[in-house]
Amino acid sequence: MSADVSRESDLRAVNAEIAASYDLAPFDAPPIAGIDPEAVFGMAALYGVAPPKKHFDVLDLGCGTGAQLEHVATSTEGRVVGTDLSRSACDHAATRCAKFGARCRVVCADFLDLDPNQLGQFDLIYNVGVLYVTPPDVQKHILDLIADCLKPGGVAVISYYFGAHALLANGLREMLRLSVDRVAPPAAQVQLAKSRIQDIARGLISRLIS
Ligand SMILES: C[S@@+](CC[C@H](N)C(=O)[O-])C[C@H]1O[C@@H](n2cnc3c(N)ncnc32)[C@H](O)[C@@H]1O
Repeated sequence: MSADVSRESDLRAVNAEIAASYDLAPFDAPPIAGIDPEAVFGMAALYGVAPPKKHFDVLDLGCGTGAQLEHVATSTEGRVVGTDLSRSACDHAATRCAKFGARCRVVCADFLDLDPNQLGQFDLIYNVGVLYVTPPDVQKHILDLIADCLKPGGVAVISYYFGAHALLANGLREMLRLSVDRVAPPAAQVQLAKSRIQDIARGLISRLIS
């Protein structure tokens, strides 16, 4: 076996292991309003990108359980395609999107095996929460796929998991709500919540400098 072939099969084994971890512990995050097509195309317009026609096409590379895919399919009547390697994530995404019929498709495959000619061309491509879980060679492959599948004037959203800040803020709000005396006067509740925030900040700072 040549070194290249063995390296490639090692890489596929690593990818299969990563996907299997999502089978074991599904990552089922809610859709993210900050990356709605309207918000993304609005932001792109600030940079001189003309918005696409009404029925734009969307690709989600690493769609997970398909929450964003389902959400986005309600904003367009164009093609909506998600891809992922986790079998259970793909099944979940396909079930979620079945109501959109043939225009919405889930491809269960390793990024390494996706053929841009078969996927087609898209106005909007998402790659959210994926680059940081994939090995460098796969990251390069993903960026090539995005370049090959993006229509001229299309927009790509490449990011860490975009909803982490919202999840953190909601968690903090919930924790503060539970930690204050809800029958105390509102001003006293706010005071207590502020002192809890200061406790958390002090704890974090002392951990960072220790
Ligand atoms: C953190 S999840 C993000 C899912 C989704 N984009 C979201 O934001 O909810 C990362 C996803 O990347 C997928 N993934 C990792 N490596 C992959 C590969 N080589 N090919 C296809 N999908 C892969 C995983 O199965 C997982 O569903």
